[in-house]
Order: sequence, then C-alpha cells, then structure tokens
Amino acid sequence: MSFPLAEEAIKKTTEEVEDIVDPWNVTSSSDKGIDYDKLIRRFGSSKISPELIARIEAIIKKPVHHFIRRGIFFSHRDLEMILTAYEQKKPFFLYTGRGPSSEAMHLGHLIPFIMTKWLQDAFDVPLVIQMTDDEKYLWKDIKIEDANRYAYENAKDIIACGFDVTKTFIFSDFDYMAQCPNFYRNIVRIQKSVTFNQVKGIFGFTESDCIGKIAFPAIQAAPSISSSFPMIFGDKLKQELACLIPCAIDQDPYFRMTRDVAPRLNFPKPSLLHSTFFPALQGSKSKMSASDANSSIFLTDTPKNIKDKVNKHAFSGGKETLEEHRAKGGDCEIDVSYQYLTFFLDDDERLEQIRQDYTSGQLLTGELKKILIEVLQELVAQHQERRKEVSMDVVRQYMTPRQLSFRY
Ligand code: TRP
Repeated sequence: MSFPLAEEAIKKTTEEVEDIVDPWNVTSSSDKGIDYDKLIRRFGSSKISPELIARIEAIIKKPVHHFIRRGIFFSHRDLEMILTAYEQKKPFFLYTGRGPSSEAMHLGHLIPFIMTKWLQDAFDVPLVIQMTDDEKYLWKDIKIEDANRYAYENAKDIIACGFDVTKTFIFSDFDYMAQCPNFYRNIVRIQKSVTFNQVKGIFGFTESDCIGKIAFPAIQAAPSISSSFPMIFGDKLKQELACLIPCAIDQDPYFRMTRDVAPRLNFPKPSLLHSTFFPALQGSKSKMSASDANSSIFLTDTPKNIKDKVNKHAFSGGKETLEEHRAKGGDCEIDVSYQYLTFFLDDDERLEQIRQDYTSGQLLTGELKKILIEVLQELVAQHQERRKEVSMDVVRQYMTPRQLSFRY
C-alpha cells in the first residue's frame, strides 16, 4: 500500500532542505553532494556554457584546462568582460587567496591554485595572492604569530604549483597592511560603503560576533581593486584594471559584496570563476577537515599513507559482493575514487574508459583504487620535490612588493 500524501510530504521536506554554502559551512543533504545548478540559481551567477568554453578556446588558441572541460570550474560572473578586455589587448590581473589555518595543506586546497596557474599561463597576466592570516586569527583559536607563520609556510606549497615569479605577488594581510597605505585606504573606502545590516544579510553575522569579523569582508574585497597595489602595477595604474578571481564557490559572498559596492566607489566589478568542492574521502556529504587526518590526502603524505587512506577510507560506489558488482556495476556519481580521478587524471579517454568499465562492473573497486593511488602518489611526490626547492629566500622574493611584468 502506498500513501501518496505522506510521500508527497516527505519529498517536499527533503526538497526544502537547502544545501548550506557559505565561507564557513558547506553541507549537503544528498549523497551526491551539493546541487550546483540550484546554487547557481540561488546565487545568481552564470553557468559556464559550451559556447563560453568555445570562445575561450578560440581566444587562447588551445583547449581549456580539464577543470573547466569537466565542470569542476562550473560557474562565473562576467567572465565575458575579461575575455573582451583580453581581445582588445587591455590589461587585467588575477586575484586569489588562501586562509592559512595550519601548516598542513591538502589536495583540495590545490584546486584553485592549479586553475589560477593555468590561467596565468594561458593569458600571460599578473597575479596577486592574498594570505588572510588576519581572517584565521579572527575566526580560529590561534595566535597572530602562528597565523602569520602559516601564511609563509603555505606560500611554499602555493609557489610549488609553479607560478611565474615575475608575474606573481603573494602577501600576508598582517604584513602588507603595514607596507601599503593604499591597500588600507581602499579597505576603509569599502568599509564606509557597507552597513552592518548588509553583512548580516550576506554572511549571517550576529550582534555577538566580534567587530573584527564584521569588518573583515572589506579586507578580502580590497585586493580585487588594482589601486591596492601601486608598487605591483606601477605605471599601468592610470585607471583601475579589470580583475578575475578564481575561487571555490563558498567564497562568492565576499565578492557579491564587492561587486555590490564597486559602482558606488567608481571601481570596476571583479569577474569570478567558481569551482565545486573537492570531496572528502568519506564522500561528498562530509566535509574535509584539516584536523581529521583521514578525511583527505595531505601534501605531506607518504606513498604508504596515500595507499592506506585510499584503500581504507575512500567512499566506494561499488557493490557489496563481487557477484553483485559484476552484475550491476558501480556508481561513479558517488564513488570518491572516481571523483578524485576527474580532478587529477587529465587523460580524457582513459577516464572515460574507467567510467565505462566501472559502471558496467568490469572494473572492481580495488582496481579503481589502485589506479587512483598511483596517480596521487606521483602527484604528491612531484609536489614534494618542487616544494623542497622553495627556500625562505624564494618565498621572500614572491612576497616582496615589486613591479610585476605585463605583456600589454
Ligand atoms: N577566505 C579565503 C579562505 O579562507 C582566503 C581568500 C582570500 C581567498 N582572498 C581570496 C580565496 C580570494 C579565493 C579568492 O581560504
């Protein structure tokens, strides 16, 4: 017997449970993770369409990165404006960042930086990277000195992604604030244009949040304004430059606010490129946490750590028994090993073959995990090699305010 009304009611309540996505919380009610199409509608951003991808490829005369091809970077705001500026040989710059909450970075933290490095090469443009050590001090139970030290340690991992030193400036908020009066002036301009009511609405701050948090969004907004970097952009700064921000979509609230105030201050609105979230080993539903060593692969993990973590913890979309798996096949949509391969296996044909074989049951979970383990062991080992080369002297070069080179 069925109870259509009850069923309807259940369906309705599940539908009404919205995914939570803001800079501090990412939770989904579904095993498949966040509903990203819904998020685009809720946030009012635009989907990266096949037409837009074709336009990018025509402009840069090569295929886009597989993150864009596979919908890992799936949403944008005003990307067309950046492409038009580029076509007209007008300069623009890239801006991204990282909150240094600990020394340990994991695979998921690399995603925006891998994308940004590709964009820097494809468009040959300068880049600023904000290390929000102040943000982490305000939000976490850590000392200023530690947050600042993590900024420099994390900068090593970021530099190991291969950014061009002549086109990249990395800065700690604590340090840059004292080096550049224009940065602070832009921050205060933005602070004067946003009310407590507005940030309450955008970020959910309450009366009992410390005033540092309430004022912080202006600090993340200001680097999208090129006049915050007079030493970096030098003689290019006759007018504000266009800015493109690659980031995970949970950072969008900061830039919705920025885009909202920009016209009032005669600043251009920054453009955005949004990524989906990198799933925890335990599945798309759970969140990766830097404090749970088993929820992700860290950039410091050994080959053995990687093998054990994937084998023990990677959520499987395979079936209970061998017979059942062979008969019914695995489910790539919830299988974390397969999903990790979509991030890190760039060979489209091989990935598609794996998808077909796993879905048909020909490929077993253990075999799929073995492929992933090899890919990750190589990726992490190469990262560690490059990071070893990054001395504090090299970090200082990237973090010294100096003019960056522009092609136009
Ligand atoms: N708030 C971000 C974090 O906690 C760090 C950040 C600062 C950032 N500026 C950014 C991220 C610009 C993306 C783009 O990780």
